[in-house]
Amino acid sequence: MTVLIDGKAFAKRLRDFISLQVADIKSSLGVVPGLATILVGEDPASEVYVRNKSKQTIETGMASFKHTLGSATSEAEVLKLIAQLNADDRVHGILVQLPLPRHINAEKVINAIEPAKDVDGFHVSNVGMLGTGQKAMLPCTPLGCIMMLRDHFGSLSGKNALVVGRSNIVGKPMAQLLLADDCTVTMAHRYTEDLEGHCRRADILVMAVGRPEMIPGDWIKPGATVIDVGINRVERDGTTKLVGDVDFKSASLVAGAITPVPGGVGPMTIACLLFNTLTAFCRAKS
Ligand code: GUN
Repeated sequence: MTVLIDGKAFAKRLRDFISLQVADIKSSLGVVPGLATILVGEDPASEVYVRNKSKQTIETGMASFKHTLGSATSEAEVLKLIAQLNADDRVHGILVQLPLPRHINAEKVINAIEPAKDVDGFHVSNVGMLGTGQKAMLPCTPLGCIMMLRDHFGSLSGKNALVVGRSNIVGKPMAQLLLADDCTVTMAHRYTEDLEGHCRRADILVMAVGRPEMIPGDWIKPGATVIDVGINRVERDGTTKLVGDVDFKSASLVAGAITPVPGGVGPMTIACLLFNTLTAFCRAKS
């Protein structure tokens, strides 16, 4: 029997835990953790993401500081806002929604965030600290994936893990987290030879590519655990449907456990952002 890893339910448990912690902090210290979001421009998908992040921040009892800037905003203006938020004691986490308009250098903007407030874990200091085993802010999507894997397995020690996709946001930090949990990690990408062979050897398969249903069930090792980060919109039978990077129907016949799309990794990402904001608050106070 294949286990369905229910990210939606896991995310709810995590948010409930955060809400309790925030209520405790509020009653004992009289303050709450705060998350500032910065959205530049009018990308509709980004607007939805930022709205959801802000809504869930408020639902857990934390403070949300939403900054929505026009698409003509200069890089200097964004950097000035970040400097203000870095210095603001009410703000414990700062998130700059990506992608930024082309005239703004995203690396420069992200690296202007105070690393302790970098709740996305994208600052070069946090990336370096993760790579060297120091206490870093961890990127939200890989953090959600490793939480679900630890919950499912207990120990990940000695497992063969394959990460497909090498983005800075998901693939690379995911590989680092699996390595830190003592997996034997392989990273695959568009130039990898014999992807099928690598898949067949993987006890843990993490897909983070963004190509609808690219992995068929018969590439998966029987009993493997599949974490599907892909969220792809496809037109099927006249309607729009969300599918992962794995062909769920055939994969779920072979895998030991699998995350569905939607309802798997997706809900964990925002829950982990809230978790990181709480963590940033606690580290600032300790
Ligand atoms: N755009 C797509 N994913 C992300 C994310 O995890 N964080 C931010 N800031 N922007 C994104």
